[in-house]
Amino acid sequence: MKPLRLSQRATKTPPSPIRKLGKHARDAERKGIKVHRLNIGQPDVDSPPEFFEGLSVYQDSVVKYDESVGSLDLRQSWSDFILRTSNLKVRPEEIIITVGASEALIFAFMTCCDPGDEIIIFEPTYANFIGFAALAGIKLIPVATYLENNFKLPPREEINVVFSNRTRAILLCNPNNPTGTFYTQQDLALLLEICEENNIFLIVDETYREIVFDSLTPFSVQHIAEDNKRVIVIDSLSKRFSLCGARIGCLATSNQEVISAISNIAQARLAAPTIEQFACAHMLKSLDQNYLNSLRSCYESRRDALINALSDIPQLTFSTPSGAFYLVARLPIQNSEHFCRFMLNSFSYEGETIFLAPGAGFYLTPNAGEDTVRIAFVLEELRLIRAVTILKTGLIAYLS
Ligand SMILES: Cc1ncc(COP(=O)(O)O)c(C=O)c1O
Repeated sequence: MKPLRLSQRATKTPPSPIRKLGKHARDAERKGIKVHRLNIGQPDVDSPPEFFEGLSVYQDSVVKYDESVGSLDLRQSWSDFILRTSNLKVRPEEIIITVGASEALIFAFMTCCDPGDEIIIFEPTYANFIGFAALAGIKLIPVATYLENNFKLPPREEINVVFSNRTRAILLCNPNNPTGTFYTQQDLALLLEICEENNIFLIVDETYREIVFDSLTPFSVQHIAEDNKRVIVIDSLSKRFSLCGARIGCLATSNQEVISAISNIAQARLAAPTIEQFACAHMLKSLDQNYLNSLRSCYESRRDALINALSDIPQLTFSTPSGAFYLVARLPIQNSEHFCRFMLNSFSYEGETIFLAPGAGFYLTPNAGEDTVRIAFVLEELRLIRAVTILKTGLIAYLS
């Protein structure tokens, strides 16, 4: 039989660099090797007990569809939580609950762009933006940022030159995955100004909003652009609340035209999960600033332990994260994917190895980032220190 033709959309969607070596990790585990997973942003921190309490008090005898835009209970609790912890007014009518930030991003892309339109991003970039853009038929246009200056935003002129008549939005993740860079209010104000000049949207992915270090004050782009119709915020409970599997995120904007267009898209996919929304609402009603403070200090200690240990490896350079829970490291090798495979397939140190995310998958520019990896500090300090010892011995074995 002649092979059946698959769509360009299906064949052009790249695998996630974070997940694509998963099979090799499972094979290593089957051989009895302990794998320290630093490839994926899956926190090991317990999900809040208030979430499980919410699950246990769910009472309906039928698990019904919820509203397409999300339950009012969750939108109200999320709105109250943002007001309580960030002193920011985001009304429930300005929020659409989604199946994770992932779905919110796809909705935002599809609402701002037609197929063939362009969104400007900064690379290295969260790799799944590339997959979402492929699904929506959108072209991502990269602007380079560099490890040497901790992936700061480039000057305005470098952003201006990538504009075309198909540019519809700038997308920024703050604090950033994969680099851990925290962009300042001035950075956001600059991007907003550029978006205003060109009459396009500014989409800010704030999945890691309150995870910032060194006494920095977290903020939302909505703090500097209250009621600004071109701003769309993407949010998620996955990371700050250790609820990756609950699949609850949201999109927030004061632009009612966007809200009503996305409501229709949301109706096409019916609804987000009912019980998880109920439990998340219950949880958000109970948590306060103390929860966020202890989360921040947990990841800050991990960051410190990791960068301290990495500083011991000669010829390795890395970004110092001010937020989120990732950093990008440049290794003294040419092809980090080859090295990551080697670590999983051919190397172990005292029965243990590490799983890192190869850096090239976080770039759109061909051949960029090939000597880098992303490291997620989602494990306890002692495991991070152990992982760096394994990295050090792995590099010696790989290079010999
Ligand atoms: C920047 C960023 N945006 C979105 C997501 C997806 O989050 P969710 O689990 O809410 O779909 C992730 C997950 O790693 C992320 O790092």
